[in-house]
Amino acid sequence: MSPAKPDLRIYANGDAVARACAEEFIRLAGRAIADHGRFTVALSGGSTPKALFEILAMDPFKDEVDWWSVELFWGDERTVPPDHKDSNYRMTHESLLTKVPIPAANVHRILAESEDRDFAARVYQEEIAHVFGVEPDGPPPAFDMVMLGMGPDGHTASLFPHTAALKETKRWVVANEVPQMNTWRITMTTTLLNSAANVYFLCVGDSKTDRLVEVLEGPKDTDRLPSQLIAPTTGRCIWMLDESAAAKLTGKANG
Ligand code: 6PG
Repeated sequence: MSPAKPDLRIYANGDAVARACAEEFIRLAGRAIADHGRFTVALSGGSTPKALFEILAMDPFKDEVDWWSVELFWGDERTVPPDHKDSNYRMTHESLLTKVPIPAANVHRILAESEDRDFAARVYQEEIAHVFGVEPDGPPPAFDMVMLGMGPDGHTASLFPHTAALKETKRWVVANEVPQMNTWRITMTTTLLNSAANVYFLCVGDSKTDRLVEVLEGPKDTDRLPSQLIAPTTGRCIWMLDESAAAKLTGKANG
């Protein structure tokens, strides 16, 4: 069965995208918790999600989530300590985690500061397996929600153009060398990301406009445009866009 076509939703601006995604988070959390007793979510990093986290931390939204039943992960992390200015965990901690009653045991941070990056990736995969109650070397589990961003180069999570992680077909989490940024990242792979029930891209601003057309409407070129690798096997893929990012879309999606 081929993956469903992506669902494109366009909003006036970044704040409207953040508000709409917060409402989706709340809706999906309520549905997942009612259905199977918990909500498993992998957050994206970068700057876009900050507005979303700030909304989720505000009244009345924060009281609309049963945070005790949320299992929170990250789709990727920079290889820096958790208090570093570039840490995705730090941004989430400051904008959301200090403001909602999520148990510390439900916050699954990537130990990306570890000297042994491969160890950090393996430990994270084992932690995911433990929470889902599956074997760490078996088929990937299905997150209720995965949030992703897209970089101006077409990367998503830390799946950057022309990097080794794009070719990973077995492991759910890997350490990925990113030569173009002279760094390493820890990232979920498409094996895990495409197993999710609901994948939400949050993509705003004119720095994404041209690349978004290539990703959604241009020819498949996944090594150069890794965001094209995201096509949930049985789940849904929703793009939450502002008018700037979507300005050049024609509606002729390539999906
Ligand atoms: C990261 C992210 C990355 C991000 C995109 C978009 O760790 O940087 O996971 O994939 O989502 O680069 O970033 P912005 O939201 O800052 O544009």
